[in-house]
Parts: sequence; C-alpha cells; structure tokens
Amino acid sequence: MAFLFNSDAARGAIFRQVFARELPDLEFHLSSEGVDPDKVRYLLTWNVPGDLSRFRNLEVLFSIGAGVDQFKPDTVPSHVKLVRMIEDGIIRMMQEYIVLGVLTLHREMLAYREQQRRGLWQALAASQAADRRVGFLGLGMLARAAIDRLRPFQFPLAAWSRSKKAVEGVTCFHGEDQLGNFLERTDILVCLLPLTEQTRGILNAKLFSLLRIGARLLHVGRGPQLDTVALVEALNSGRLAAAMLDVTDPEPLPESHPLWSHPQVIITPHIASVTQPLTAAQSVIENIRRHRAGKDLVGLVDRTLGY
Ligand code: GLV
Repeated sequence: MAFLFNSDAARGAIFRQVFARELPDLEFHLSSEGVDPDKVRYLLTWNVPGDLSRFRNLEVLFSIGAGVDQFKPDTVPSHVKLVRMIEDGIIRMMQEYIVLGVLTLHREMLAYREQQRRGLWQALAASQAADRRVGFLGLGMLARAAIDRLRPFQFPLAAWSRSKKAVEGVTCFHGEDQLGNFLERTDILVCLLPLTEQTRGILNAKLFSLLRIGARLLHVGRGPQLDTVALVEALNSGRLAAAMLDVTDPEPLPESHPLWSHPQVIITPHIASVTQPLTAAQSVIENIRRHRAGKDLVGLVDRTLGY
C-alpha cells in the first residue's frame, strides 16, 4: 500500500519525514516513477497528474490546497474520495490575511498610500469599528476562523452562505433571496466562497450595485468569481472605495490591466494562505488513520456541491 506525494520537493521532504515517523507501514513516494500504480491508495496533489485510472486502487485523493475547483469532476472517478486541505497553517495564515485586509480597508490605508505618493499629510475621517459592518460571503471553516480573530475589534459581523448556518454573534443570511439584504448591510465585503458554477462571476456589477456607496472588497476566494471590468467601474464610479485582491483571473493579470496601477487597489499574488507542510502532513496522516478506521474524513468534498 502506497502514498504518492505529487508536489514540490521541499514540502515533499518534510512530508516524507513525518510519514516515516507516524505511518512507517505505508510506502511513501515522491514520484510515480518506480512505484507500482496498483499499490497507490492515497495521492496528494494540486492537479490530476495525467490519467488517474492508472491508479486502479486509488481510494483517497488529497488536494494540497484548501480549494478543489482545479479538479475537473470527470477527471476524478466517483468512487475516489476527494478531500480538501484543512490544516492549522492554512487556517492561521488566512486569519492573519483577513485581519490585515479588513483593518487595511477599515483604516483607509489605500487612501493614505495615495496621499503619501502625493506628499500629502492629511487626516481623513475615521469610522469606528462598531460602525463598520463586515460581511463574509461564505461561512465555511476558514471564514469562521477569521471571524473569531475579528471579534475583539467589535465590527458588526454578518455572513451569507448557500445553506442556512448559525454562528454566535454573527448575523447569518442564506440563499439567493437573502443576498440583497446581506449586501445592503455590508461595508467591508470579504469573499471566501469556493469556486463552483453558482459562484463563478458572483462579484459582478449587480452585486456591487447592492452594496452601500463606498463599500470595500476583500477577495480571498477564487479569481473567476470576480468580474474585473465591473470592479474597475465600481471603483471609478465611487460605488466601491477600495479593494484588496489576493486572487485574480487570470493569475497574474495581464501587464496592462488597469487594476495593477489602480490607486484604490492592493493586489497580492495568491499568498493569503499557503499549505504548511508540517501541519499539513499531520492533518493528512490523521485523515488516513480515520480512513483506515472507517471514520468520516475531515474535509471530504461533496461531489454534487463541488466543495
Ligand atoms: C489556495 O488557494 C488553496 O486552495 O490552498
């Protein structure tokens, strides 16, 4: 029985060490060369490496990232369990980035950056956190973790999700019908949705028109959720005051794209949260133990929902 690690060598070396210590009975491979494909029960990868059907006994496909939208449904046989990465490193980094982003947008750092560029020393009106309503699109594990870190600042917190959810201290909205009400009360919109056919292009002109004038966007979901033309228009018309983007479509944006040099935009190159090998290896091992014991896997993807 074998585990195949299909990602970068640096992280692979750490995985190998942790696996050797924790699961010595499981063969560990950093490359499919030299491994009998019939032995591969577990595969960890970002993308499907060629035709998966050559691993006839594959049981679990682990994504090395939190997202699984890169796996086209028809490339992963339905009997293979698809698992997204849930690990402390990803959670911690996403908490940091969202706190950084919300505070950056709340404290007008983009406007101050622009003032600095012009050599202008001038205080802007400061809203208090209790008056700045933060709203999360998506209320999965990462959003909940980020919300916990934001609580001490006293922003009024809300979230919108596809299905009904409840989180203490968070005003929860769900479903198409309640999206408008959620947007109407949101000053800083944080997008943490998974990419599905339903969420593709969700950050569009219509959605921006439902936000309050001067709202801000923090996008840490997936690039194809954002209509960049609509974003530029919303910024230029004053509908949106600022945006911080960690994901774009394509990645990177073309050199000439207006968002690169837009004074009201910060772009980071998809670094909000990155899988950390030590903690990720522990979490994959825990899941393999669960799998062997016939227990539910943490992060198991519902193939009909796509996340
Ligand atoms: C990054 O975007 C990930 O899916 O982990």
